[in-house]
Amino acid sequence: MRIVLMGPPGAGKGTQAKALVAQFALAHLSSGDIFRAEKASGSPLGRKVGQYMDAGELVPDEIVVDVMAEAITQSGAEGGLLLDGFPRTVAQARALDRQLDEAGVPLDVVVVISADDSLIVERITGRRTCPKCGRIYHVKFIPPAAEGICDDCETELIQRDDDTEQVVRQRLEAYKVQTAPVVEYYRTCGDLKVVEADGSAPAEEVHAAVAEVLEKIGPVR
Ligand code: AP5
Repeated sequence: MRIVLMGPPGAGKGTQAKALVAQFALAHLSSGDIFRAEKASGSPLGRKVGQYMDAGELVPDEIVVDVMAEAITQSGAEGGLLLDGFPRTVAQARALDRQLDEAGVPLDVVVVISADDSLIVERITGRRTCPKCGRIYHVKFIPPAAEGICDDCETELIQRDDDTEQVVRQRLEAYKVQTAPVVEYYRTCGDLKVVEADGSAPAEEVHAAVAEVLEKIGPVR
């Protein structure tokens, strides 16, 4: 089963992805995580993508398409695959379709998680992440047992560079202008199932609603 997980910043894509890959034994590719790792490496590519990320703008398609094509090839798209945050433009979606069609493993479902702008700003500014294991917390909604420390690996939690109110408003704008049309693109694709989920519900409820749909689609293939 190949799934695209979409939604505005802070809708809960990363939170849901972690639960879904565990339940359905999927490979998880987050374009944001891939670019953050590149940025942290200090490579020339990392410095370039970091400029766009810190400004809340999308990384240009010509970079994203090549990086994600390579990551998908490495992950073995024939097994189950969950794409989180990619594609984010119609050009990226078309490139992904071409790659998966050539491999004979087209997408099965697109899950779109929604949340309104004020909730998104509250979620993003309160997010804390474990730099070691990647677990995602929120200071108010999903706090760790000990303040600022990861429950799983006891590492000090960090705040992302792009998680300020000013940058998240720019990311929201990018979503509305460049990424929302991707949902419409997928709605016009014949056999593809597009599922909407209310991301403002508690994380367990969002997971249950999405998992129910995925279970109906059938076994991983
Ligand atoms: P990326 O890392 O993908 O960021 P994003 O899309 O802005 O999404 P977020 O990771 O901020 O939010 P999320 O939906 O995963 O929410 P989360 O689960 O963490 O991209 C970053 C940047 O990289 C982009 O701006 C761009 O520059 C670049 N980039 C990446 N992909 C690209 C592409 N394809 N093309 C071009 N550029 C690209 O949850 C958020 C918070 O809410 C957390 O604190 C969490 O604990 C809490 N929370 C989540 N769900 C719930 C819930 N149900 N109830 C209460 N709290 C909740």
